[in-house]
Parts: sequence; structure tokens; C-alpha cells
Amino acid sequence: MKIVVIKGSPHKNGSSNMLAGQFIKGASEKGHKIVELDAAHMNINPCIGCDFCGMNGDCSQKDDVVQIKEALLSADMAVFVTPVYYFGMSAQLKAVIDRFYSYTTRLSSKHLKTALIAAAWDSNDDVMPYLAEHYKKLCRYMNFTDTGMILGTGCGSPAMTSGSIHMQEAYQLGKSL
Ligand SMILES: Cc1cc2nc3c(=O)[nH]c(=O)nc-3n(C[C@H](O)[C@H](O)[C@H](O)COP(=O)(O)O)c2cc1C
Repeated sequence: MKIVVIKGSPHKNGSSNMLAGQFIKGASEKGHKIVELDAAHMNINPCIGCDFCGMNGDCSQKDDVVQIKEALLSADMAVFVTPVYYFGMSAQLKAVIDRFYSYTTRLSSKHLKTALIAAAWDSNDDVMPYLAEHYKKLCRYMNFTDTGMILGTGCGSPAMTSGSIHMQEAYQLGKSL
């Protein structure tokens, strides 16, 4: 499979990207082709709701979204990688998703496999359900098939994350594909 990993953390070597690295290791060992896109360090503007695209056409904004769009429209799987910010995804990743607007029909007709990889500081049960529900709803709306969620609670810093069980979980998810 061609797997596009979209990273939404400003920390290049931070916790969510560490978990993504483990996923990539496992998936690469199985022979999958990985394309990594660091959305947090690309030039990606928020959707401005101008409706120039009519939900299925060219976007009025000319920025790096075109790379993401081309990668996803030729992919078999997408992986959404994010730190937890106020119980949701980062603005960097949300901007990528909002910009699906101009190619929602084309993307949803691909029936992509997807996964979610998230890192949060807190380790209690009341951190991840909100992000997880949002992701699950997105899957239903976009005809994505979820292959797994790595909900990295207690992954608040690289030191915390490196000793976390979620590193192994992320590796196993990649390896299971
Ligand atoms: C703006 C902001 C909001 C955050 N909100 C939460 C939160 O709601 N719950 C939580 O457990 N951690 C929260 N954190 C902590 C990060 O999720 C945590 O440090 C994570 O490891 C960062 O991942 P990264 O290194 O991949 O960016 C927040 C951090 C920032 C900067």
C-alpha cells in the first residue's frame, strides 16, 4: 500500500512524531511505501469558506495543500498524526482536514484506510474520547475505514513517550497492515 502520513505537530522530534516513527517502522518492514508530509512545517492556510471550489473543484488558495491533495488522491491509506490540543487535534492538522473541502467527493470515493496517532500529556481517561469521536465521525463522513487509533496518553514529552507502551502499540499497528 501507499501510506501517506500527515504530521500535525510543531515539534519535529516530539511525541506524536515519535509514535508515528514507530508506526512507519512497522509498516515499512511489511513493505509498504510511506510518504511523510509534515503539515506543521508546510505552507497551509486555513479554509476561508469562499466556496470558489463548490466543494469539488480548484481551491482559490495556492499553497502547499496541493502536495497533500495529490498524495492522498493517489494513496491507499492516510495516517493523521497530532498532539492533543485542548482535547482535539492541532490547528495545523485541522487546517489540512478543512481543506479537504475542495476535493471531498474525490477523496471520499477512494475509500481510504486510515489511522489516528495522537499524543497527550495527561494519562487519564478523559483526554482522548473527544478527539477519537471526531476522528470516527470523519471516517464515517469521508468513507474512511479506520485501521486503528494510537491514543498516546501520558506522552507529554519525548522522555515520557519513549518509555510508553504506546510506542510498541504504534509499531504493531504498522506491522499489522
Ligand atoms: C496548546 C496546547 C494545548 C494542549 N492541550 C492538551 C490537552 O488538552 N490535554 C493534554 O493532555 N495535553 C495537552 N497539551 C500537551 C500536549 O498534547 C503534549 O505535550 C504532547 O506531547 C505534544 O505532542 P508533540 O510533541 O507531538 O507536539 C497541550 C499542549 C499545547 C501546546
